[in-house]
Amino acid sequence: MPAAAETKPQPDAPTMLEVGLGARSYPIAIGRGLLSSLGARIKALRPNARVAVVTDRTVARHWLQPAMAALDAGGVAAAEPIIVEDGEGSKSYGVLEEVSEALIAAKIERNDLVVALGGGVVGDLAGFASAIVRRGVDFVQVPTSLLAQVDSSVGGKTGINSPKGKNLIGAFHQPILVLADTAVLDTLSPRQFRAGYAEVAKYGLLGDLSFFEWLEKNHQGIFAGNAAREHAVATSCQAKAGIVARDEYETGERALLNLGHTFGHALEAATGFSDRLFHGEGVAIGMTLAAEFSARRGMISQDDVARVQAHLVSAGLPTRLQDIAGFTQEGVGDADSLLALMFQDKKVKRGRLTFILLEKLGRAVIVNDVDPATVRDFLSEKLSQKPN
Ligand code: GLY
Repeated sequence: MPAAAETKPQPDAPTMLEVGLGARSYPIAIGRGLLSSLGARIKALRPNARVAVVTDRTVARHWLQPAMAALDAGGVAAAEPIIVEDGEGSKSYGVLEEVSEALIAAKIERNDLVVALGGGVVGDLAGFASAIVRRGVDFVQVPTSLLAQVDSSVGGKTGINSPKGKNLIGAFHQPILVLADTAVLDTLSPRQFRAGYAEVAKYGLLGDLSFFEWLEKNHQGIFAGNAAREHAVATSCQAKAGIVARDEYETGERALLNLGHTFGHALEAATGFSDRLFHGEGVAIGMTLAAEFSARRGMISQDDVARVQAHLVSAGLPTRLQDIAGFTQEGVGDADSLLALMFQDKKVKRGRLTFILLEKLGRAVIVNDVDPATVRDFLSEKLSQKPN
């Protein structure tokens, strides 16, 4: 009779990708049930490292114990976990100080490791703390949201928000491993899952029409958690890994990953980085606005715009300013205030706006020097539309 441990289902062989950055290259492991291999993978990469896990309250409730057990099973020594509050509010100077001080108090040294166990907020915050504590310690991304698995955990962007804008304080600091267990997405709220899906659709729209077409047919499988989910995460990570390898510090092509983000970040700031609008929801509205704005410039057709919008709507995402929670009561500011927020975008150069627009579905381009008056008029028109 086999021992109980031998009969436990084992995770399927993971999909392994690589972010090719020379000596700083790192693997991305994607698959169902992979969290149990966290300790063994860390041990193989850094046999003598101690780790400190940084996570948030909700993720801790679901996944901290399995993560700690996996570290223990792999023979990895771990400090007391550092748990922050859920939500974008934790990407602040105050929480960065708390996490940094906790890492120092836990005696995490230069050869040790930080593990960011969570969504985009935890990854950005813990990654940034890793970049600055003792002038830099290595870290591992264990993304637990769809958004983090397909976007924010890959590529080394880390940081916090300034009261003046999103992600304005930060550093490029690449992880040494990204471990994306697609089963952990089962505990996400439907709203969070949908918000993350906006970033998946983004990869199709910006650079891969055939992936967008595949998503139009298969997105329900991604939500249901069948093999389509691994395919979508792997395809997104592959696309991102390629772009990051070619343009790590966003001097060109990497800016394409910001499709929908210039509008989206302004909307997030206008709604106070609150639960009124999740990041991915802002991106969904932003991508629809970017598609519409591209059509106004004669770059794509109105049919293309309708197709982008229809797909995002079919995935349950907001696509209009009027879809933002509390729009009727609280609004999102006027066109001038939204435009002012857009001028805090990191792509602004010498006071000129840069937008990522669509030359066709599946091909985004960087458009510099966009006339602010055109954007203001466009926003005014969009703001004045009637809620459904
Ligand atoms: N999320 C956009 C980037 O990593 O460049």
